[in-house]
Amino acid sequence: MMNYKIYILSFTAAIMLLSCGSGTEKQPEVSEKVETAPLEAAVEESVPASVTLTIEGNDAMQFNLKEMKVVEGQKVTLILKHVGKLPMATMGHNWVLLKPGTDIQTFGMAAMTATDTDYIPQDMIDQVIIHTKMIGGGEEISITFDAPKMGYYKFICSFPGHFGAMQGSFVVEPK
Ligand code: CO
Repeated sequence: MMNYKIYILSFTAAIMLLSCGSGTEKQPEVSEKVETAPLEAAVEESVPASVTLTIEGNDAMQFNLKEMKVVEGQKVTLILKHVGKLPMATMGHNWVLLKPGTDIQTFGMAAMTATDTDYIPQDMIDQVIIHTKMIGGGEEISITFDAPKMGYYKFICSFPGHFGAMQGSFVVEPK
């Protein structure tokens, strides 16, 4: 008789557990999660394969941007515009992207004497990722390159004496 009662109680408990189990299953939530997955993927895919950035240099020895941002793997077209009037000989501007860890002071000093190579010091060329030609007032130039791996880079103008004022950050964000 004792055993029978225990059996009945166990059976009842099992039924309650089963009904609880099916009661907590929320089918709509599961399908909601499934639906958000393609949305996240679409956001990732919306990062453009290429990007065009324009930076200006003026007669006051200034770039108009202190920071530029791209995404890893993007094809970058960089346009440098000299919006001033002074000629290249006195107010030349270029855009030089340097590898992380490059000592800007050392590079800038070396550039001052690199008169035959557009103020790009050839003994430090391994520190340069990409650079434009030097231009004067009213001119513009563009270069296209693949964004380097994610990280923080520096860009400068390497015209003698300009790197102190004409420098900024080039941020490559992860994909
Ligand atoms: Co300059």
